[in-house]
Amino acid sequence: MTNTERTTALITGANKGLGREAARRLGALGWKIFLGSRDEARGQAAAARLAEDGIDVILIPLDVTSDASVNEATRLVREHTDHLDVLVNNAGAPGNAVPPADATAGEIHAVYDTNVYGPVRVTHAFLPLLQAAEHPRVVMVSSGGGSFAVVTDPDQPVSKMHELAYSSSKAALNMITVRYAQALPHIKFNVATPGETANHKFAATDMNRHTGLLTVTEGTDSIVRLATLGPDGPTGVFVDRLGPIAW
Ligand SMILES: NC(=O)c1ccc[n+]([C@@H]2O[C@H](COP(=O)([O-])OP(=O)(O)OC[C@H]3O[C@@H](n4cnc5c(N)ncnc54)[C@H](OP(=O)(O)O)[C@@H]3O)[C@@H](O)[C@H]2O)c1
Repeated sequence: MTNTERTTALITGANKGLGREAARRLGALGWKIFLGSRDEARGQAAAARLAEDGIDVILIPLDVTSDASVNEATRLVREHTDHLDVLVNNAGAPGNAVPPADATAGEIHAVYDTNVYGPVRVTHAFLPLLQAAEHPRVVMVSSGGGSFAVVTDPDQPVSKMHELAYSSSKAALNMITVRYAQALPHIKFNVATPGETANHKFAATDMNRHTGLLTVTEGTDSIVRLATLGPDGPTGVFVDRLGPIAW
């Protein structure tokens, strides 16, 4: 175990998309980045690109659905630092947009394993390192689809996208974040959605076959804002790139 003067951040699912862009942006602030990737080769390629840009980055093989993988990740991170300032639970699975009448518990379970149990598994494992930081922050990457206010608004396209797994998994993640925030006031727990909810805009990534109208840089504005909150910043809030959004 070694200490580091740099701000330290672990980002899950950081081999591509919003996770990789968040790693790039937070690394550009001079932070030490632990780049989580469930596939070692994909993670290695992403880390090498960031390192070429001068970012202090360490690959952490991390499958959020596996206790063994998460435990090994904590061991690896502890080789480099005795505290973790920021955890970004970004890894996510979209599910297969199965209509509610056809949805099975098995299909939902697979999505929950990544989107709900994953962030809990990772947060629980990293709590001792977070608690050792002076001003720790956890950012949960959710979705407007996890907001009851958004999903029940007939003007929002998501209100007409009939599925159970993804939206309910993100709604569960939102509640889990609020409950962590209430119970652990020393750590800031906040929820980011990458889009501009009011403008029905999301960021172009593999998850949406690059149909989003925002860049990954725009998509990570909410994540970066919550990751860089000062000690007086809020806890238990839900924001997109334009500001707070309704639960
Ligand atoms: N794009 C948007 O505008 C938007 C809107 C709302 C919410 N989000 C949320 O933003 C987050 C990032 O999504 P994205 O748009 O950047 O999609 P993406 O490009 O598909 O990235 C998803 C990332 O999650 C990783 N992942 C999936 N399952 C994992 C697991 N079991 N363990 C570890 N990593 C895992 C993927 O790894 P592999 O490469 O190995 O598959 C990938 O790195 C997700 O939580 C998503 O729900 C995005």
